[in-house]
Amino acid sequence: MVQASKWFNFLLFLGIFQLAESAFGTPEHIHLAWTENEHEMMVSWSTFIPVDSFVHYRPILCNDAAENYEYTEVLGNRTMFNEGVLMLRFIFLHNALIKGIRSECFYEYFIQSSIGKSKTYIFNGRTPESDDSFNDTSNPFKMIIIGDLGGGDIGSITAALFQREVKFRDSAGLIHLGDLAYNLDTDNGLTGDNFLNLVQDLAATIPYMVLPGNHENFDNQTHYKMRFKMLKNEYNDGLGQFYSFNLGPAHFTIINTEVHFFENQTISANRTISAKVQRKWLENDLAVANKNRKERPWLFVLAHRPLYCSYDYLANSKERNRTCGPEAKYLREEYEELFNENAVDVFFTAHVHSYERITPIYHNVTVKSQYDDTNTHINPRATVHIVDGIGGNRLRHNAKATHTPQLWSVYRTDDYGYGKLTVYNKTHMLFEQYSSLTWNTIDTVSIIKTRERF
Ligand SMILES: *[C@@H]1O[C@H](CO)[C@@H](O)[C@H](O)[C@H]1NC(C)=O
Ligand SMILES: *[C@@H]1O[C@H](CO)[C@@H](O)[C@H](O)[C@H]1NC(C)=O
Ligand SMILES: *[C@@H]1O[C@H](CO)[C@@H](O)[C@H](O)[C@H]1NC(C)=O
Ligand SMILES: *[C@@H]1O[C@H](CO)[C@@H](O)[C@H](O)[C@H]1NC(C)=O
Ligand SMILES: *[C@@H]1O[C@H](CO)[C@@H](O)[C@H](O)[C@H]1NC(C)=O
Ligand SMILES: *[C@@H]1O[C@H](CO)[C@@H](O)[C@H](O)[C@H]1NC(C)=O
Ligand SMILES: *[C@@H]1O[C@H](CO)[C@@H](O)[C@H](O)[C@H]1NC(C)=O
Ligand SMILES: *[C@@H]1O[C@H](CO)[C@@H](O)[C@H](O)[C@H]1NC(C)=O
Ligand SMILES: [Fe+2]
Repeated sequence: MVQASKWFNFLLFLGIFQLAESAFGTPEHIHLAWTENEHEMMVSWSTFIPVDSFVHYRPILCNDAAENYEYTEVLGNRTMFNEGVLMLRFIFLHNALIKGIRSECFYEYFIQSSIGKSKTYIFNGRTPESDDSFNDTSNPFKMIIIGDLGGGDIGSITAALFQREVKFRDSAGLIHLGDLAYNLDTDNGLTGDNFLNLVQDLAATIPYMVLPGNHENFDNQTHYKMRFKMLKNEYNDGLGQFYSFNLGPAHFTIINTEVHFFENQTISANRTISAKVQRKWLENDLAVANKNRKERPWLFVLAHRPLYCSYDYLANSKERNRTCGPEAKYLREEYEELFNENAVDVFFTAHVHSYERITPIYHNVTVKSQYDDTNTHINPRATVHIVDGIGGNRLRHNAKATHTPQLWSVYRTDDYGYGKLTVYNKTHMLFEQYSSLTWNTIDTVSIIKTRERF
């Protein structure tokens, strides 16, 4: 089977099918990302032959009444990427940086190569850091949070709901909590190609921010690192390992839990990322964020694997036992104290292919807030944990929501879907979970903070 698909890809490489399959010079896999600098947007795409290609963009709908902006063009740089381990398939990855973005505008753009042109997309000019538009409480920002999303028939169910996001464009960005495509590298990268085309309409409309899960680890995360460009920091070459950003009153910290399960992941020719390096960065990042609480009261940490999840000994597999058992225990020993010291508000994870929302919790016990009900916590005294690995992928429901939840488990479901975080202002946030099947909201939690935790 593997052999057959390699031969098929060899034919693709020769160009026999590739020419028929797609307009080989037409930009595909278009996705956006924020960068470490404000007022910038990274645009990434692929072509199947080495052609130069350009982003053509212009501001629209600005407040200054000038509606006839000219298009500006920026050349994408090009990297040849051998997608298959056996050197049987190539794609050309392009990245272009749009600078000087104004937060009061939207941007219309398309990508043009000498042979083909993409659809036209529109993105919002709001970018992280100093951008004051995120402070506008009459226009609160939203962030899509999704985990363990692949392509195929299951991924397509969720991708259909993405079309509603594209239409309303009401989310500032998306964070994919690891395990992409199942897998980006599968079938010499064809699975990754199909996935990026499946999510393109949304990923070309809002920044598609990623972090690594276990499914990215193949070949030292080569596909993941080549295809996505994330924020750079002093330890990181923009390769999506750990990074953070601010949006108005919120700080988002993204970390890689896989460092604890695959030793010394290589992130570039010169660097490995060890748990120790990440730890040092994280301690500093959270401490700085916590000092800044008056300005930015919300502190969110996002990663692939959970610290807490319920499990059902009778119904579930060895894998599930490990995830919610020894592995979660290991990660609690690693992170729980640090999260508590820095009063992290919510820890978002995935990896388990179901959805589970947990009370504010510390040392395996629910911590009472000033007020709690099923869907509200007022002035919580511990971190709320949300496990959202139900984007949908070829493994389907291999980790069904348990029938014997722990005491701290508030809500569980097997409905494919994803969540959306709304940060209204410095005191109010809401998290909603959607079903990809019915498009309904199936769970919500409001967190209200009128004073500092400590
Ligand atoms: C291409 O541009 C991106 C974004 O500016 C940069 O991260 C990357 O290093 C560049 N790659 C090459 C091969 O120049
Ligand atoms: C991944 O990186 C490690 C450490 O540099 C190296 O020993 C290993 O061979 C690499 N694995 C692959 C598949 O390239
Ligand atoms: C991983 O990195 C640490 C620190 O750089 C080093 O001490 C250790 O030997 C490395 N382990 C492997 C298997 O390379
Ligand atoms: C590795 O590090 C050296 C010295 O810092 C630098 O000159 C070189 O460009 C780096 N190579 C890569 C592939 O990043
Ligand atoms: C927007 O909010 C950030 C963080 O709270 C703050 O640093 C900045 O000064 C605010 N800007 C305005 C115009 O209020
Ligand atoms: C899961 O763990 C429980 C408790 O350790 C054990 O009784 C059960 O047999 C395990 N199930 C599997 C499938 O490994
Ligand atoms: C957590 O507490 C529950 C009781 O609510 C107990 O059954 C379970 O064994 C505890 N788990 C750990 C890891 O301590
Ligand atoms: C914050 O947002 C909530 C929810 O929309 C609203 O009820 C509350 O009045 C807002 N607070 C401030 C200070 O604007
Ligand atoms: Fe996973």
